[in-house]
Amino acid sequence: MSERALRSAVLASALLVLGAASSTVTITLPPDNVQFKPGPGVDLATANCATCHSAAYIYVQPPLNRTQWTAEVTKMKKAYGAPIADADIAPIVDYLLTQNGRP
Ligand code: HEC
Repeated sequence: MSERALRSAVLASALLVLGAASSTVTITLPPDNVQFKPGPGVDLATANCATCHSAAYIYVQPPLNRTQWTAEVTKMKKAYGAPIADADIAPIVDYLLTQNGRP
């Protein structure tokens, strides 16, 4: 066996050992149980937005303006099938603006 082939073989077995070891590693994800904070419209937001994902999705966003939040809520409805009544979109957006909005 050439030295090069031997090196490759040694490297390959090292990788195999590493691969076997990594299968036993446990990864602890950060808790995702962020709740909507109190405010006018919090019940609507909790009912319409917390069914699929936590409120973290709203708070980790950069602040959005009214047009952007409206587009975001509409996307949840049209693209992801969230059962949001059209009449609830504006009050939900009002609430989202109080939580993570900008002019
Ligand atoms: C039917 C399930 C569902 C509902 C209900 C829902 N969402 Fe989402 N939302 C999703 C999915 C799916 C994603 C994309 C997740 C991903 O990319 O990991 C998402 C992502 C997001 C994001 C991250 C940015 C983005 O566009 O991907 C925000 C912000 C968000 N949702 C806000 C809301 C708000 C506000 C509501 C309530 C009006 C809501 N969601 C209701 C399914 C839903």
